[in-house]
Amino acid sequence: MSLVPVKEILKMASDANTSVIAFNCIDYNMIDSVVHAAEKVNKPVLCMLYPEHAELNNWCNPETFAAAVKSVAEEVSVPVGLHLDHCQDINYIIRAIKAGFSCVMYDGSMLPLEENIANTKRVTEIAHAFNVAVEGELGHVGFAANRDDQSNLDMYTKPEVAKKYVTESGADALAVAIGSAHGVYKETPHLDIQRLREINDTIDTPLVLHGGSGIPDDQLNEAFLHGINKFNVGTEFFHLYHDTMKQYTQEHPDGGAIFDYARYAQEILMNYLVKKLELSKF
Ligand code: 13P
Repeated sequence: MSLVPVKEILKMASDANTSVIAFNCIDYNMIDSVVHAAEKVNKPVLCMLYPEHAELNNWCNPETFAAAVKSVAEEVSVPVGLHLDHCQDINYIIRAIKAGFSCVMYDGSMLPLEENIANTKRVTEIAHAFNVAVEGELGHVGFAANRDDQSNLDMYTKPEVAKKYVTESGADALAVAIGSAHGVYKETPHLDIQRLREINDTIDTPLVLHGGSGIPDDQLNEAFLHGINKFNVGTEFFHLYHDTMKQYTQEHPDGGAIFDYARYAQEILMNYLVKKLELSKF
């Protein structure tokens, strides 16, 4: 199937009262594993490029990333969407739109509210002209390494402000801060489901949960029932990929075995991805 616009996949998730799982990927092995795992469980999926990773990795610029996702998506029958994760640079967002990303995240969550709204609005005006959707963030999802980022209520999304933000900015999806954080948690997160319900009652916009690595499944199931339609996972997928490399080189000290590495890694990644994707109740 050709790529499906992320906005359509979010609508499918909202209609099914569940969440699509969105995986950060940095190379072809990860993209191929994500798309084929989704095919195996017959569920839609999103592949996301995080610009910071692209800067560090000579391979994954928006054009190459988009071409790879598009090509692998054509091998399967499930909907696959292409999303640009956290970006503050409007020129980079335009580059991603030109490359074929159907949804881009403008992250102004560290800015004062009015500036976040004004910048997001500027991005939505450009993106919507090309039928591309925009994800914004309100409140701020910080880093799990800073314990305070998970518990500081000042950083959480406020339902009444969410209404103002989406109305004035035109964002198509909203990343909410409800107790999750990016990276490896030092202590088990406790999502503020009550706050999520209030946000969901206040606006119709699909909600996005960031910092997906390490959140217990029972909390995710609750969150998906109360408005989370896109769930972002990166860290645990990266760590698993790293571990496959370590394991493979230990098991195969002969350099010639490199030709079999992709198959080896993809099998391990697929097992993890299938379990994660089964959280989606499509
Ligand atoms: P983790 O890396 O914590 O899973 O978060 C991913 C994410 O939210 C990407 O936007």
